[in-house]
Amino acid sequence: MSKNKKLIIANWKLNPNSLKEAKKLFSDIKKTASKTSKIQTVICPPFVYINELNKMYSGHRIEIGAQNVFWENKGKYTGEISPSALKSVGAKYVIVGHSEARALGESNADVNKKVNIALKTGLKVVLCIGESKRDLQALYLKFLKEELESALSDVPKNHLKNLIITYEPIWAIGKTAGDAVSPHQMYEMYIFIKKILTELYGKLSASNVPIIYGGSAEPGNVEELLTQGDVDGFLVGHASLEAQQFNEILKITNSF
Ligand code: PGA
Repeated sequence: MSKNKKLIIANWKLNPNSLKEAKKLFSDIKKTASKTSKIQTVICPPFVYINELNKMYSGHRIEIGAQNVFWENKGKYTGEISPSALKSVGAKYVIVGHSEARALGESNADVNKKVNIALKTGLKVVLCIGESKRDLQALYLKFLKEELESALSDVPKNHLKNLIITYEPIWAIGKTAGDAVSPHQMYEMYIFIKKILTELYGKLSASNVPIIYGGSAEPGNVEELLTQGDVDGFLVGHASLEAQQFNEILKITNSF
């Protein structure tokens, strides 16, 4: 990923329900994504579609990612999927610490193990942090700091080049552009996250880590978040399931 490229990551979650539909959605997105030179598009489908979608595009403007990963590369773990296995079928990215995985029981310690092994295996890690609500005492900032610091425990500086941080407040997920973070709030979070990364790794390394936004990113709010919120891209949920909407996000972002 070139440092100057914006990163637009599609998080398809549990959708669609057939390989046929997944291929159709991918080809409809590919028409635009393969032409947008200022963007790195990443499609994160359910695990079972990764291999097939990966075969449908051979350039670098679109990469495939996974939505989760296990913290070991081998062993007695029925039903889990290792970073090496993901890499072998063409996944280049993996989302770790998504609030929906955390809601199903994933702890900060689990997230930390996943981040470390995925980076060691050579995957790019899209680490998600986000508070469920904001409070006037700003305790949510303490919560976010803990989430970020614990996820990065034991992550060496030389692995930072494969790290992307997603600020994804839970209160903004699955709604509409009007309910998302405001550009001002995003700008504050951008500074806040950079400050924590700088404390951990120094200014130079911290400055190279992309910070993207997730939570009702839609065609209606990406422009203001890019221009006033300073984001390096978006993690897009529901709007990535409609090729037209997702392609619109790509086109708007590509115009900057
Ligand atoms: P949303 O989902 O765009 O539907 O809010 C984003 C996400 O959960 O990654």
